[in-house]
Amino acid sequence: MSMLRSVVLGCGSYLPERVLCNAELARTVDTSDEWIVQRTGIRQRHIAAPCEVTSALAIAAARAALADAKIDPQSIDLIVLATSTPDYTFPATAVTVQATLGITRGAAFDLQAVCSGFVYAMATVDGMLRTGAFKRALVIGAETFSRILNWNDRTTCVLFGDGAGALVVEAQTQPGARTDRGILTTHLRSDGRHRSKLYVDGGPSSTQTVGQVRMEGRAVFKHAVAMITDVVEDAFKVAGITANDIDWFVPHQANKRIIDDSAEKLGIAAEKVVTTVDQHGNTSAASIPLALDVAIKDGRIKRGDLILMEAMGGGFTWGSALVRW
Ligand code: ACO
Repeated sequence: MSMLRSVVLGCGSYLPERVLCNAELARTVDTSDEWIVQRTGIRQRHIAAPCEVTSALAIAAARAALADAKIDPQSIDLIVLATSTPDYTFPATAVTVQATLGITRGAAFDLQAVCSGFVYAMATVDGMLRTGAFKRALVIGAETFSRILNWNDRTTCVLFGDGAGALVVEAQTQPGARTDRGILTTHLRSDGRHRSKLYVDGGPSSTQTVGQVRMEGRAVFKHAVAMITDVVEDAFKVAGITANDIDWFVPHQANKRIIDDSAEKLGIAAEKVVTTVDQHGNTSAASIPLALDVAIKDGRIKRGDLILMEAMGGGFTWGSALVRW
C-alpha cells in the first residue's frame, strides 16, 4: 500500500576554515598527538572564527544542500535545526536561518538532544512530513562547541570541533515497500538518570551564564556501545533486515574506538563504516550530516543505498535512523 516517505533530495555541509591540529593543542594544554589519536582517533578539528556564529555555519550548510537538491529555498516549509550551541537563548537559531534564506512561510525551530540531535531531528521531520502538513524540510545539525569548552581542561577540549551539515527532505508517495526511498524507520531513546555524566555547567535559569562542557569520559564510553547497539538492533528488527543489508554505516563521530566497537558488535563490515572523526573531531549534532556529505561527495553513497545512522550523547539520549538514499 502506497505511503508518504521523507525522501532526501540534497545534502550540504560547512566547516570553518581554521584547522586546529593535535600538535598545536599540545602547545597550550598538557596532552600529545599520540595520546589523542590513540584514545579517540582525532587528528584535527575545525574552529569557527570569532565572528562566525552557529547560524552562519548552518546557513552555509543549508545553502549547499539547497544547491545540491536544485530547489528554490521558497519551497521549504519546515526547518528543524539541531544544536546545543544556539546563537542566543532565544529566538531559535532556525529562525535566523529561515530569515537569511528569505523564507517567510512554514515553521522553523531548534531541537536540543546534544550529540543525538541530528537523529532526533530526522525523526521529528519524518513525523511532521508524513502527516502531510509540511512538504519540504531542511534538517540541519550545526554547532560551535569551541564556545562552550574549557580550553584548559585536557579531558574535554581535545574532543570537540565546529561545523554544520544539512539535508533537504521532501514528502513523497512511495510504494510502501522495503525498497522505498526515504526514511524507513527511526528509534529514539533517552534516560535522564545519566544527565550529570555529560553536561554543561551553566544556563539561563540556573546560573545566567553559558557554562562549559563537563564529562565523565569513562562512564560515557562504558554506556555508548551498548546503547548504540540496542537502538540499531531495533531498527534492524522493524525494517526486517540484517547488518549485511546495510550499504553504509554513518555513525555519530565521537570517538573512533566507540565507532569501531559498535560496528564490530553489530556485525557491520569495517569497509562500510564512514569515519570523519579524525578530521572533524566530535561536532555533536553536526557530525552525521558532515560525514554523510563527505561520503556523498567522494562517491561512496549513491542513490538507492541503504544508510544506517546512529548517535548517542548527553542526557543520555540515543537513537537510530535507517534511510534509503
Ligand atoms: N591528554 C593526555 N592525557 C589525558 C588527556 C589528554 N587529553 N585526557 C585525560 N588524560 C589522562 C587522565 O588525566 C588520566 O591520567 P591519570 O591516569 O594520571 O589519572 C589518563 O589520561 C586516563 O584518563 P581516562 O579518562 O581514564 O582515559 P580514557 O582511556 O577513558 O580516555 C576519553 C578518555 C578519550 C575521554 C574516553 O573516555 C572517551 O572517549 N569517552 C567517551 C567520551 C566521548 O566520546 N564524549 C563525547 C561526547 S558523548 C558522545 O558524543 C558519545
